Amino acid sequence: MYDIVAQEERYQLKTYKKFPFAIAKGEGSWVITTEGERYLDLYGGHAVVSTGHCHPHVVKAIQDQAATLLFYSNLVYHETRAKAAEMLAKAAPEGMDHVFFINSGAEANDNALKIARQLTKKSMILSFEGGFHGRTIATLSATGVPKYRDAIVPRMMEHLFAPFGDIEAVAALFAKHPIAGVMLEPIQSMAGVRMAEPSFYQGLRALCDQHDALLIYDEVQTGFGRTGGQMFFAPRAGVVPDLITLAKSIGSGVPMGALLVRDRCAAQIHYGDLGTTFGGGPLASAALKATLEVIEQENLLDHVARESAYLTEQLIGMDGVEKVLGLGFLMGVRFTKPAAQIQKQLLEHKIITGLSEDPHVMRLLPPLVLKREEIDLFLSVLIRCLSV
Ligand SMILES: Cc1ncc(COP(=O)(O)O)c(C=O)c1O
Repeated sequence: MYDIVAQEERYQLKTYKKFPFAIAKGEGSWVITTEGERYLDLYGGHAVVSTGHCHPHVVKAIQDQAATLLFYSNLVYHETRAKAAEMLAKAAPEGMDHVFFINSGAEANDNALKIARQLTKKSMILSFEGGFHGRTIATLSATGVPKYRDAIVPRMMEHLFAPFGDIEAVAALFAKHPIAGVMLEPIQSMAGVRMAEPSFYQGLRALCDQHDALLIYDEVQTGFGRTGGQMFFAPRAGVVPDLITLAKSIGSGVPMGALLVRDRCAAQIHYGDLGTTFGGGPLASAALKATLEVIEQENLLDHVARESAYLTEQLIGMDGVEKVLGLGFLMGVRFTKPAAQIQKQLLEHKIITGLSEDPHVMRLLPPLVLKREEIDLFLSVLIRCLSV
């Protein structure tokens, strides 16, 4: 029999420690191993499978597109791209209905940093301790998690860091430096699902306006309904950023990234300023369009708000749970015990969860279609795990 584990370990660079099984199939919030075992996926393949594994509407859209035209670049017009761009722009926060398609989160952020420098004619970028923005050299330079960022020194460019949530610290840096752009994860996921007060986000907007800097929201995780009730995080505090970067869940698993660009910035971006071969290809565009259709048709924004409220309510007060963090299905559960220990127990009971940089915080990033009975299954297993 073909030994998948041995062959991957032999031929793939050893960059990821993997779970000890190989997945053959996925359906909804479940993945099925080559041994036929079913795992409840509360990690969504790294916050990617928004509409669940192999949603039939998304699969059909991809299949139809693949059979018609797999690829042509941005040198030609194409109906699926046009429709995907229109739908995304209509879902965007008001005043941000211009889009640029690329392929990943790091690439979206890289382009955002480039636009900030290009439009302001300044080079300094400010980001936050604990933030994660990708693995290219430029986005690592903006990342505030030393474990990743400090692997590459010296960093790519002039860069400042402030503590997340500390508007006074940001104001002090603005007073001293010519800043081109401020980049933030509005909920710092990897850092342990950390959120700031609304006044912090509003303060950043005011400082950027005052100092002619671009405000860049990395909504690679918080975007596309993950926080429940709304498509994007930005409007929650009444803030309109200049740029929103997107990736992960927007193609339900087909690689795609996007930038939402505010009108006043879009007017300053011209032919040739940005480029990509694959960005906005027909296949990715079909996946994005189908993902947006599922979110709308299945009313997933309300579903996430309702089901995450239920899950939070059940978790709060459970023995061994200290706190529930985050919003919607970007959830952090702070345990009294190390989260890695509980993750291992849950995995033994065939439930996949994620960890964070905070050793006591487990991350839940399930598909947006997660059902009530699946939540109840998780809760009953968790109670058992916490009681041993
Ligand atoms: C908030 C955030 N930004 C950017 C990225 C980078 O995205 P990608 O891995 O698609 O380059 C990630 C990936 O985990 C992320 O969580």
